[in-house]
Amino acid sequence: MAKTKTAYFCQSCGTQYAKWIGQCTACKQWNTIVEELVQKTVKTDWTNNETSKKVAQPLRIHEISTEKEVRLNTQDLELNRVLGGGLVPGSLVLLGGEPGIGKSTLVLQMALKLPYTTLYVSGEESQKQIKMRADRLNEPSENCYILTETKTQNIFRQIVKTEPDIVVIDSIQTLHSDHIESAAGSISQIRECTSELIKFAKETHTPILLIGHITKDGSIAGPKILEHMVDTVLQFEGDRNYVYRILRALKNRFGSTAELGIYEMQGNGLREVNNPSEILISKNDSPRSGTAIAGTLEGMRPLMIEIQALVSTAVYGTPQRSTTGFNAKRLNMLLAVLEKRAGFKLGVKDVFLNITGGISIDDPALDLAVVVAILSSNFDIPIAKEICFAAEVGLAGEIRPVQRVDQRILEAEKLGFTTIYVAKNNTITFTDPKIKIQLISKIEDLVIALFR
Ligand code: TYD
Ligand code: MG
Repeated sequence: MAKTKTAYFCQSCGTQYAKWIGQCTACKQWNTIVEELVQKTVKTDWTNNETSKKVAQPLRIHEISTEKEVRLNTQDLELNRVLGGGLVPGSLVLLGGEPGIGKSTLVLQMALKLPYTTLYVSGEESQKQIKMRADRLNEPSENCYILTETKTQNIFRQIVKTEPDIVVIDSIQTLHSDHIESAAGSISQIRECTSELIKFAKETHTPILLIGHITKDGSIAGPKILEHMVDTVLQFEGDRNYVYRILRALKNRFGSTAELGIYEMQGNGLREVNNPSEILISKNDSPRSGTAIAGTLEGMRPLMIEIQALVSTAVYGTPQRSTTGFNAKRLNMLLAVLEKRAGFKLGVKDVFLNITGGISIDDPALDLAVVVAILSSNFDIPIAKEICFAAEVGLAGEIRPVQRVDQRILEAEKLGFTTIYVAKNNTITFTDPKIKIQLISKIEDLVIALFR
């Protein structure tokens, strides 16, 4: 009998070792080395048909055609945007996210809407369960095949039969290949299955969407290596208690990673939110103190979001500072600036700050709205709901310019705001505005303009 061969793999970065050690020398993680069975068998190709026998030929650089890449339209504006215009043929897209966030729903919904033949391979749910979900999504489709299978060799056999235009794998952690002995979900299995899929995708120009689980700390399970192997890594996130879900690109070989897609989870699936600013601003008739609207950008996309602040007298010796969706250090800095430049004794106040909608945004242009929300709550003077803000606040209390201010102004105008406060030395090329653009240069002016 052949001796079974084992090797040790780091479950975090995939490095292979001959024997067990406590700390991975590559990624410095402790206790991540696990013994796995490896058995080298004669490798066959993903299939033995003609396409796999094609050999790549070198081309002179001027012979390589650079015609615009054809992309498969996913029929989902948000997904298209995040992918950079659609699915690139032959690419591998990895979609990660917490359990129950809606990955399977998103992908199934896409598969049902597509005019192309899709093969949805599920290792997690039965065909019946998927059918029930599809009924709920209420998108009857002729071209969507559902397969419950976890062995890659069998999957490829079915692919040869159905000849799909797009393949979906839910999820990569459930797959296993005959070429490797270790259990499904282990590093060597994930690596092997993914490389088989990559080979298939590149040779047949079929795009593949992989769903990946993520670990407790938020990274895609097992595989940093998986992220290296695929072309695009998408992350589906959001608080499960909120109905909004955000799709981001963490890596994209064919587009920008700055784009963002927003969805709303409803009883019959995910709805694309094409105008996110509307949902992020609460529709209160009477303005309340402590809220201010910021004109931010997430990627290339302008977003108007509502900042809420609550300033109250500190009950305990050390005042509390609590934020949701905003950097706490940045809040402390802004409070110090207010203390110094505007003479507010915020040191004896508790300050709570919240960005509505449960999203977190990292944009210096939020500063001004944060400052205004805090002051508004402190004085208990509401800000008219037609006013919004887009500027950074510097340590000296100066109001600083932000990038692409025109786009923010345009979005504010589109949503019916009548006044926007921006930094005085921001270059604005936006011509003929209907919205009133207020230029300010320091915090003191802002206080006079809004609260005196
Ligand atoms: P699912 O796609 O199974 O999540 P994942 O694949 O990321 O684990 O999402 C399941 C959740 O979505 C579940 O909590 C129910 C909810 N859901 C809806 O609210 N509406 C729907 O139409 C569907 C299909 C699911
Ligand atoms: Mg799922």
